Amino acid sequence: MNSDEFREAGHRLIDWIADYRATIETRPVMAPSKPGEIRALLPQSPPQRPESFDAIIGDLDRVILPGITTWQHPRFFGYFPSGGSLASVLGDYVSSALGVVGLAWQSSPALTEVEEVTTDWLRQMLGLSGAWSGVISDTASTSSLVALMCARERTTNYGLARGGLQEAAQPLVVYTSAHSHSSVEKAALLAGFGKGNVRIVPHDAANAMRPDALEQMVKDDIATGRRPCAVVATTGTTTSTALDPLAAIARVAQAHGLWLHVDAAMAGSAMILPECRWMWDGVERADSLIVNPHKWLGAVFDCTVYYVRDPEHLVRVMSTTPSYLQTAADGQVKNYRDWGLPLGRRFRALKLWFLVRDQGVEGLQARLRRDIENAKWLERQISATANWRVLAPVPLQTVCVRHEPPGVSGEALDRHTLEWVARLNQSGDAYLTPAILDGRWMVRVSIGAELTQRAHVEQLWRLMNENV
Ligand SMILES: Cc1ncc(COP(=O)(O)O)c(C=O)c1O
Repeated sequence: MNSDEFREAGHRLIDWIADYRATIETRPVMAPSKPGEIRALLPQSPPQRPESFDAIIGDLDRVILPGITTWQHPRFFGYFPSGGSLASVLGDYVSSALGVVGLAWQSSPALTEVEEVTTDWLRQMLGLSGAWSGVISDTASTSSLVALMCARERTTNYGLARGGLQEAAQPLVVYTSAHSHSSVEKAALLAGFGKGNVRIVPHDAANAMRPDALEQMVKDDIATGRRPCAVVATTGTTTSTALDPLAAIARVAQAHGLWLHVDAAMAGSAMILPECRWMWDGVERADSLIVNPHKWLGAVFDCTVYYVRDPEHLVRVMSTTPSYLQTAADGQVKNYRDWGLPLGRRFRALKLWFLVRDQGVEGLQARLRRDIENAKWLERQISATANWRVLAPVPLQTVCVRHEPPGVSGEALDRHTLEWVARLNQSGDAYLTPAILDGRWMVRVSIGAELTQRAHVEQLWRLMNENV
């Protein structure tokens, strides 16, 4: 494809995307396709001869769209709001089109310097002090792995330069709560701690980690010859947006030399609202922090920002500098390859940069406030209606709800929950995610797609009542 052909095809593709977005509300929210159905529409082997771009674009409608669950639909209330702001989509295009790889500052100085500035803008938007330095990665999962590796290396005084965990005389222990995201346990296992050294700290009635229980567990581990290493706290848990009390957890962490990593992947976006910052009071005493602008903030997937207070430690753990990557600028610049796992890095900052410039901080704040108000509205309807129950506090945009018909309990209640949510999802009218809270199935309503207005939440509430 040459530049002229690209111009022509690109205009058509942009039109296709704009039409898709403009008519998105007419599409089913959950993909109606059955397993294997999309694969059956595709040839088993690659084309030997070039195909026309017409054929490729045509297949977007014929093959791709039937297999798309419409995350950007205004009645998508599943999982979490996934950023898809169109300005951010264009930023992502530019990243692909430039086709540069951030191996080193010199391999594209703008890639590094726009990332430095954009992560610092976000830092200011979140109300964080200037003590934090940010770096963009693909996902929260990757950054939590990096955080626990850094914790491990601080506790072992850079054991990786010697025998690594193989020479550790005392097992290192990581603490988190049952409500932390599955990526936290995965990170602990992949960082070599071992399942037997991941402690699940009890939580309170609001699903928040209990600092008193954390302290007791740490003391018990010390008494039995283990080395407490890190605690991972969450601001806005996945199931119910519960808020671990960071200030109290930080006190325990500091008293016992634990690395404190804060997972604010989802709820971190809300910290652009000054009225929400009490939710992570104490965050300044953490060692590392993750926020996913690719969730509620609106940046298109994938874009996680990992903030650290001690970048020198991060670089010491992550850096490798073979001769072919050395440049004359080293020493005066950031080489972000030394701030994380991958060597090659996309120009991800562009999609965040485009988003923030297109909407401005005030535009982003207004949208998040709208979503919080919508969640409060739904909470009020549910609380005021017989046989419906709100199961957890609603500090942000997620409402945990269960329909409890009289006389239905235990496994029968679970079946009822899973059946009505499946019915609603299969209708294509809205999409919700069921999850287990306190041992019983319930349904999460996660509000915050860019197009979701109050009318869509009202429609959802009507659909919920029609489907139970
Ligand atoms: C609190 C929390 N942490 C981590 C993650 C994982 O995010 P990622 O897909 O960026 O790894 C999620 C995703 O839902 C989450 O809600």
